[in-house]
Amino acid sequence: MTPPTLSARTARIQPFQTMELMKRAVALQQAGRPVIHMSIGEPDFKAPAPVIDALERAARAGHTEYTAATGIEPLRRAIAADYGARHDLDIDPARIVVTAGASAALSLACCALVDPGAQVLLTDPSYPCNRHFVSAFDGEPVGVPVGPDTRFQMTPALLARHWGPRTRGTLLATPANPTGTAIPPEDLAAIVALVRERGGFSLIDEIYLGLSHDGPARSALALGDDLIVTNSFSKYFHMTGWRLGWLVVPPSLVGAFEKLSQNLYICASTLAQHAALACFTPEAGAIFEARREEFRRRRDFIVPALRQAGLSVPVTPDGAFYVYADCSAHSPDSGEFADRLLEEAWVSVVPGKDFGNHHPERYLRLTFTRPMEELAEAAQRIGRWLGR
Ligand SMILES: Cc1ncc(COP(=O)(O)O)c(C=O)c1O
Repeated sequence: MTPPTLSARTARIQPFQTMELMKRAVALQQAGRPVIHMSIGEPDFKAPAPVIDALERAARAGHTEYTAATGIEPLRRAIAADYGARHDLDIDPARIVVTAGASAALSLACCALVDPGAQVLLTDPSYPCNRHFVSAFDGEPVGVPVGPDTRFQMTPALLARHWGPRTRGTLLATPANPTGTAIPPEDLAAIVALVRERGGFSLIDEIYLGLSHDGPARSALALGDDLIVTNSFSKYFHMTGWRLGWLVVPPSLVGAFEKLSQNLYICASTLAQHAALACFTPEAGAIFEARREEFRRRRDFIVPALRQAGLSVPVTPDGAFYVYADCSAHSPDSGEFADRLLEEAWVSVVPGKDFGNHHPERYLRLTFTRPMEELAEAAQRIGRWLGR
């Protein structure tokens, strides 16, 4: 029997190769190889005890029904209050839309803002799903090539140069995946001002903002209430599989996002929402901060260790848990380099081709989501493998 014909938009969406590579690394591990996983963008820490306890209580209390599409009120209030505590920002809880991870937040935002054929400016490289959120709503993601000269980030000059008649807005992550680099505050302010002048949208993904390594970073929400900001419980709060995130939207757009959320997702997981309330207790907060500090220690260790092992790291990451390394001195093809590194030294990393088209063959993404001893072992193996 002939299967149904797929939509054209499905053909435009490429597989998430990190996941494919992960499958191979796991297969090698199951075959007995001591694989060190530096490929997956997920904290090695688990959700902390106060959150697990809150989940148990929520389940026993019977919180198994749907919630409002924008999320439970106490969680919206807690998220808004956290902007007050961390960023000194007065955010109306009514502007918070709780979602099934940043992924649902980004797809809701693209559904709300992107018309067919509309262009959205992203960086190339960037988080692979971002361009697919735009494509899924028949928009056209435009990857602006960025390199070490702009710390792999968008600049006001690049944005102005690439803005065209069909551009509707920009989707930027700061700190970003796969590079861990952040947009300097003055550049972000200038970018937002340029977008505003052009009547477009600024969609800013702050999923790694809590994991800023060189002092607290301010939310882009300080730049005005016309921005759309996404965030998540996946990374700073170590709850990837709980599928919980949020959006902060302009006051006048709350109704539109609520309507879309009702129709597309109904609501985020009720149990996860109730459990997430415990993230904002002092007890859980102390755990998250200690773990953020551990990620900073790992960054401070792994970047020089990789350089010493013979991999070039052109830019030190500002946040998150990623290093974007340049392997062009060793191979003309980072895909082939990553394959051999996995097969021969059992270190799993992701080649640049997952993240865009701008010199992907030069780069690899390595994550430092493993304990320090494993990172040290990985750096040693890479060094030995490169003949150091
Ligand atoms: C930049 C960025 N945005 C969004 C996401 C999606 O996160 P989640 O849906 O788990 O909240 C990720 C996941 O790796 C990411 O790196």
